[in-house]
Amino acid sequence: MATFKVLNNIHYIGVSDGDLRVFDIMMETKQGTTYNSYLINEPGGITIIDGVKEPFTEEWLANIRALVDVNDIKYLVTQHTEPDHSGSIPALLKLNPNIQVYGSFMAIQNFEYINNEKFNGNVARTGQELKISPRQSLFFYPVPNVHWPDTMITHDPVNDVAFTCDFLGMHIAPQELFLSKVKDRGPAQEALTVYYDSIMAPFKKDVLKAVTTLQSLNVAMVLNSHGYLLDERKDVEHALNEYIRWSTIPTSEKVVITLVHASSYGYTTALKEAAVAALKEAGADVRVYDVPVNDHTEIVRSIEESDALLLASPTFVGDGIKPVYDVLNSLNPFLVMNKYVSAFGSYGWSGEAVKNYLARAKELRMKTVDEGFRVRFKPTADDLLKTKEYVLYFLTLVKKELNK
Ligand code: FEO
Repeated sequence: MATFKVLNNIHYIGVSDGDLRVFDIMMETKQGTTYNSYLINEPGGITIIDGVKEPFTEEWLANIRALVDVNDIKYLVTQHTEPDHSGSIPALLKLNPNIQVYGSFMAIQNFEYINNEKFNGNVARTGQELKISPRQSLFFYPVPNVHWPDTMITHDPVNDVAFTCDFLGMHIAPQELFLSKVKDRGPAQEALTVYYDSIMAPFKKDVLKAVTTLQSLNVAMVLNSHGYLLDERKDVEHALNEYIRWSTIPTSEKVVITLVHASSYGYTTALKEAAVAALKEAGADVRVYDVPVNDHTEIVRSIEESDALLLASPTFVGDGIKPVYDVLNSLNPFLVMNKYVSAFGSYGWSGEAVKNYLARAKELRMKTVDEGFRVRFKPTADDLLKTKEYVLYFLTLVKKELNK
């Protein structure tokens, strides 16, 4: 992609990766992506904001050279050191080792292990000013965990712009990068949504802090590092409002428990029904999902938004069952750590499912309760009573933890 002027002295020097179909090993990118990078062509203070993915280094350098002499570049800001934004930077520093690199504490530390050569690193603190010329300054605002610990927003008040890297980004690779010029907003909205779900969703609390930071800057334009540039205030506000909506977890006076259930012959279902009745009677809000019937994404979201998790599942051939593991393997430890979890179910031979699910839950740093609860084959009236007692004990622990 050729360089173009964004506004005043800000130029686009990024690249398009339109054929990319999988990002970060697991994320589908059916609309491709761009690695947006910017050059502020300020006399005496030429500044680069972020790099691009390493395979695009030559194209990036050509964009820079089309605008300035590499030897005249004074500053480079690395807002986030994931290699899709930092991979090309070492090549530039080889050409001009005098460039002063600015980034958060973590970004400068990370970049030492990406550059693998000495460089002029400068740690940027919250609100710190970098005067790139007598008339223009940049201000730095680290926003950790959006989505790496190193992430930072850079504010350019002269141009009324914020550079936000991944924050408010989207995997899409259009020819026209100004969102204001796009009539059909469907693909952009889809890309913003998918990007949030895949990249930002595990960090909802930190996302909300970053939203507050960006709102306080009240900028007219957001220059992100993937996809469309948000070049109108109304689109900045729309994206921020979407991030607020997606990051706000509904609160409840009641203890909210997601119960994931599977049963082959109805024995585990009988335990589940006893458990649900006891929990509801005790005032809990129990959200029951059947696997593999109910929507997987909805189940995962429910667990992330709940206070605790119960798994009701039989054992099959010495282990738990795939649909339950699929749920457990989709949970992000950042969102479920410290939540209470337990499991119960019917088994025929040796009953490993409960123990194995709890082992996985421990890997997610969830709080497990004892050994769970198991019943051999068809539950008796006494088994159902014990199931009720067990889940009420579980509820007591959750209530104590939450002060509810
Ligand atoms: Fe676009 Fe977190 O890298």
